[in-house]
Amino acid sequence: MDLSGFPNLHLLTDIFPNQVKGLMTIIRDRETDRDRFIFYADRLIRLLVERSLEFLPVAPESVVTPTDATYAGARFLGQICAVSVLRAGESMEMAVRDVCGKVRLGKILIQRDEETAEPHLYYSKLPPDISDRWVLLLDPMLATGGSIIKAIEIIKEKGVPEERIIFVNLVSALFGLSRVFSRFPQIRIVTAEVDPELNDRCYIVPGLGDFGDRYFGTER
Ligand code: PRP
Ligand code: URA
Repeated sequence: MDLSGFPNLHLLTDIFPNQVKGLMTIIRDRETDRDRFIFYADRLIRLLVERSLEFLPVAPESVVTPTDATYAGARFLGQICAVSVLRAGESMEMAVRDVCGKVRLGKILIQRDEETAEPHLYYSKLPPDISDRWVLLLDPMLATGGSIIKAIEIIKEKGVPEERIIFVNLVSALFGLSRVFSRFPQIRIVTAEVDPELNDRCYIVPGLGDFGDRYFGTER
């Protein structure tokens, strides 16, 4: 698949090709039970969050080590917050908390209509100082792009510039990626894999089914 037209797309497979393939094989398998799905999805999500933090600005900082030598290091600059797109994005919050301690968390509840796949916004609550922060936007699935476009609009309306939004995602459909980048060219997207198609119900193909249902155990 030619992804060269998306300079702000960052693939986890570029760093960990074998690990990502192996973990993805488990969570994409329809025979994988819920416990294993959660365990391996969580591992991938942790890698995605770590990769995303790489985009935060740093400043030089030196420390003296126990050998009396100076280590020329770095410290993170700038404040962050995370915003999860409910429900599935909630599954990514723990990984952010694990690495960013007392991180502020905003929530946006958007649900796709099961028939039309049109996104509906029900609720949002964001940190009041979000415009001063870098935003890790959390949603594991990007299909038509409708839900995340709505979420990005809300965050931008609060004064966050596009280039300070990092969308942390597990599986992207090519169609949704193109839509998001043509609307918001400065945003960064960190994802594990890009899938080629959507089916007639706007599910990602090959995909992994309904992430929220598999993670939270609500399949019919
Ligand atoms: C899923 C997913 C995204 C959206 C992606 O959520 O988590 O938010 O669909 O599809 P789109 O790109 O076509 O908008 P869904 O609305 O199914 O709700 P859920 O989180 O409860 O599973
Ligand atoms: N939401 C999901 O959970 N999976 C898809 O394939 C599309 C939207």
